[in-house]
Amino acid sequence: MNRRIKRILIGLLVILVLIQFIRIDKRNPPSDPTQDIITILQPPDDLAQIMKVSCYDCHSNHTVYPWYTNFAPFSFWIKQHINEARGHLNFSEWGTYTDKRAHHKLEEGYEMVLEGHMLLPSYTWIHSESVITDDQRKSLATWFQNQMSRYNPE
Ligand code: HEC
Repeated sequence: MNRRIKRILIGLLVILVLIQFIRIDKRNPPSDPTQDIITILQPPDDLAQIMKVSCYDCHSNHTVYPWYTNFAPFSFWIKQHINEARGHLNFSEWGTYTDKRAHHKLEEGYEMVLEGHMLLPSYTWIHSESVITDDQRKSLATWFQNQMSRYNPE
């Protein structure tokens, strides 16, 4: 191997080792159970279970970080994803949403789940326990849709 390539590879390896010292913050933000969508809208148990298993790792303050999230730069990517997901929709903070926002998020939830955009493939690929069947997908989507009438969209 030519010396230049060797030097570049060693450089990359050193960087890879060094970034392992940059840990992501795995502390979950505090959450008030009375503000959680499951407390407020009381979905049937089977749907609540699906949401906890398949959505809460990203869209709540109850993220569980598996062991492989210890490895950088994978950990950075995961953390950034969770921040983005919580920013869009945080089921733990449902009670703080305005009517308009809640209505809109339910509509998005309906569409995203029905069309199969949520769950992200990169997630179900690793979390095989959170794969949902077509029937479950439909019931969850319909449940989101039915909840919309509780909120005033204006
Ligand atoms: C692996 C992380 C992850 C999981 C698991 C996940 N989501 Fe998401 N979700 C995201 C990210 C990131 C975004 C924002 C980017 C985008 O729209 O693709 C998002 C966006 C959304 C949005 C759109 C919100 C808006 O206003 O734009 C909805 C609704 C949603 N997710 C619902 C769900 C539901 C319901 C589940 C469970 C069935 C779920 N998600 C599971 C990461 C996730």
